[in-house]
Amino acid sequence: MPLLTILPAGKTIEVTEGMSILDALIAAGEKAPEPCGDEAKCGACHIFVHDGRKTVSKMQRLENERLDAIVGVGSKSRLACLTRLGGENVTIELLGFGSGL
Ligand code: FES
Repeated sequence: MPLLTILPAGKTIEVTEGMSILDALIAAGEKAPEPCGDEAKCGACHIFVHDGRKTVSKMQRLENERLDAIVGVGSKSRLACLTRLGGENVTIELLGFGSGL
């Protein structure tokens, strides 16, 4: 099973290939926004994917458009609800909603 490391806490959990990062966070009991139904509605699940960007699902137009409207977006930015895990380990950083900021 691939591993998901969650920064800044440094917690690592086992995840299932194909599940969204947001679902993995919720299953792990992490503080997370309500899922929007994969419609990129809220943007509150903005995260940085530091490692494993090649193993996660490719960004689609809807996600790209939502990210364009968010302040603080960078090349590592993804929406956790629309990013599906692959077969390799991933490290993410929670921003705002789960980082304690
Ligand atoms: S939960 Fe879907 S955009 Fe945030």
